Amino acid sequence: MAEEAVLGYLEENEEISDSGKFSEEKGISHDEIVNVIKSLNGFRLVDAQDIKRERWGLTKEGEMYAEAGSPEAQLFLAIPPEGITREELQKKLDPSIFKIGCQQAIKNKWIEMGKSQVSRKVQHVDDRVRDLLVQIQNGEAVNAEDVDALKKRKLITPLIWKGYSVKKGPKYAPKRKKVATDLTRENLLRGDWRELEFKEYNFLAKGQPTEGGCLHPLLKVRRQMQMIFLQMGFEEMPTNNFIESSFWNFDALFQPQQHPARDSHDTFFLKEPSTTKMLPEDYVERVKGVHESGGYGSRGYGYEWKREEANKNLLRTHTTAVSTRMLYALAQDFAPKKYYSIDRVFRNEAVDRTHLAEFHQIEGLICDRGLTLGHLIGVLEDFFSRLGMSKLKFKPAYNPYTEPSMEIFSYHEGLRKWVEIGNSGMFRPEMLLPMGLPEDVQVIAWGLSLERPTMILYGIDNIRDLFGHKVDLGLIKRNPLCRLGL
Ligand code: PHE
Repeated sequence: MAEEAVLGYLEENEEISDSGKFSEEKGISHDEIVNVIKSLNGFRLVDAQDIKRERWGLTKEGEMYAEAGSPEAQLFLAIPPEGITREELQKKLDPSIFKIGCQQAIKNKWIEMGKSQVSRKVQHVDDRVRDLLVQIQNGEAVNAEDVDALKKRKLITPLIWKGYSVKKGPKYAPKRKKVATDLTRENLLRGDWRELEFKEYNFLAKGQPTEGGCLHPLLKVRRQMQMIFLQMGFEEMPTNNFIESSFWNFDALFQPQQHPARDSHDTFFLKEPSTTKMLPEDYVERVKGVHESGGYGSRGYGYEWKREEANKNLLRTHTTAVSTRMLYALAQDFAPKKYYSIDRVFRNEAVDRTHLAEFHQIEGLICDRGLTLGHLIGVLEDFFSRLGMSKLKFKPAYNPYTEPSMEIFSYHEGLRKWVEIGNSGMFRPEMLLPMGLPEDVQVIAWGLSLERPTMILYGIDNIRDLFGHKVDLGLIKRNPLCRLGL
């Protein structure tokens, strides 16, 4: 109805000069007229200009007096012709009406305030304040002096009125055509598609976000790491055993049984089953021998090696336990190999910003004749430059199972400092020869955590934000595809 009124009026007339007056004339609420004007303006059927007008409106207090009369009139009417005591009068009125009423009625000389008695001074009063408030409420004009007085009493307040003046727009039509949003089967059957006007496509509208599974950053980085190993010709080792015996995790790696890492403070031992039953006995004998008295050019550690220690089950502390099993298997029928693995390991550590009791290890090894430290450095440079870390430094280090050993540092452009990224070395003859590998075979190997590069690449500084029950699912939904090499 409002739309027809606006468009219909413009058909005959040049302009609607004031939407407020127009709404009064047509008996349609101004809000409704305004909504229609806005919509028609949007579709350019009309051209609307803002109009702002200041007018007076009643405050809450003003509204109360417009309804019930001014306080002075209420007070006057509460005084009977014969007069009344102050206390009696006070009881009849609201405290604020009594107070304001007294002030104004005395000012108007309507009443006489005696010591205890209150009496009328005039027979009859006109409630002008109320009349003025009603006039303002009805939008009628009131003279400036009265406005001032009401303003001082805070009974009226300026209101901004907003409306429009409206002319025909470039797409004016006496009736708005409904635009079609879809071409339907019915349109085709009826043939009315010929007359239909179709809504234009909005190519800038944003689509619904798609629902779908999201990969955790660790999985994305793991995938990239895997791709690098595969590109370099490495084969994956089977790492599907979190539980390992101390033998494969430590003893076979020439790690002495008193070594602090084998303490329950650093390693989680299993209660049930607490020991392993399957170890290759002849190999165990050779490992015992090399620990106790050496061989293969080594003096050994010179302590009494205990089988019970080697039998203890634990959660593997490094994937080097898997590498050891693989090398032992390879020794039975040797061929040069490049192996890698990426999987979980466990350490009984105090949990903090950068440490968890479980994390993932990336491990690579090459087993061939005639390998040297130079090969190891070259392979590491190749591997890490594929991760986007081409500035490397090596620092001599110690592992019970490698000699020489090197910590690997990389210059981090973002952090502007050298950060430790991994550990590496050449496996000792004390580890390789008891397995039965040929004497001229060397193994170069390295390991690093998956979490550390992931945290650096994704700018996460607390490992608990990356892994565990506190991880924000939003992080997983919103993180970039993969950031290796950035
Ligand atoms: N196992 C070592 C670690 O847990 C990493 C490593 C692997 C070191 C291979 C040297 C050779 O830190």
